[in-house]
Amino acid sequence: MIVTIDGPAASGKGTVAKGIAARLGFAYLDTGAMYRAVAFAAHRASVPCDDDVAVEHILPDIHIEMPPGRVLLNGDDVTDAIRAPHISQGASKVAAVAAVRAFLVPQQRRIGQGRDMITEGRDQGTVVFPDAPVKFFVTADARVRAERRYNELTLRGVQTTLERELAELVERDRRDSERADSPLKQPADAHVIDTSHRTVEAVLDEMEGVVRRCMTDRA
Ligand code: DC
Repeated sequence: MIVTIDGPAASGKGTVAKGIAARLGFAYLDTGAMYRAVAFAAHRASVPCDDDVAVEHILPDIHIEMPPGRVLLNGDDVTDAIRAPHISQGASKVAAVAAVRAFLVPQQRRIGQGRDMITEGRDQGTVVFPDAPVKFFVTADARVRAERRYNELTLRGVQTTLERELAELVERDRRDSERADSPLKQPADAHVIDTSHRTVEAVLDEMEGVVRRCMTDRA
């Protein structure tokens, strides 16, 4: 059974996706990490992330593996490196390249084939797994999301400011929502969860209830 979680950057969807996967014993797929790995490969090849033709050109040389909790790019562990702020922006740019989506979407479907999996991204419920029996759209106020991102980066020793993170999030959300191919959109049949003023545990309790009810109905 596939459960999709879509939503804007730093909405808390990664945290709740991992949490709900652990509670249910489901696999977890972070599709954003795949776009980040492509952006990282583009940087490494000195290819601008918004150069559609050049990015498409490097795709045949990109091999991504996603063992639990890690991201491997052509065998190199890039799990931490793909979280750098310039890779976040680059990922949002390569995500607007149709050839990149055509490259990654079949891989995501293959990973989910026949599995119980929580999959997180921007288009999981709308495009990649439109028939998923449970879909969530996780969101939060932009300011709250910027604070989360700022705290996360500061903890990792990255020098930044709250205003800068807010501006970057707003820019990334705009690009992710306005692109022509598979923009960030709330699936019509999604359960909407606003995490702005709720604890992770409260959100997980709600999500777990929704998924377990669906599992019972399907049994
Ligand atoms: O979830 P994230 O911040 O790690 O995602 C990085 C970028 O990848 C995000 O700005 C948009 C893009 N993305 C996408 O277009 N489709 C997905 N399914 C997941 C991420």
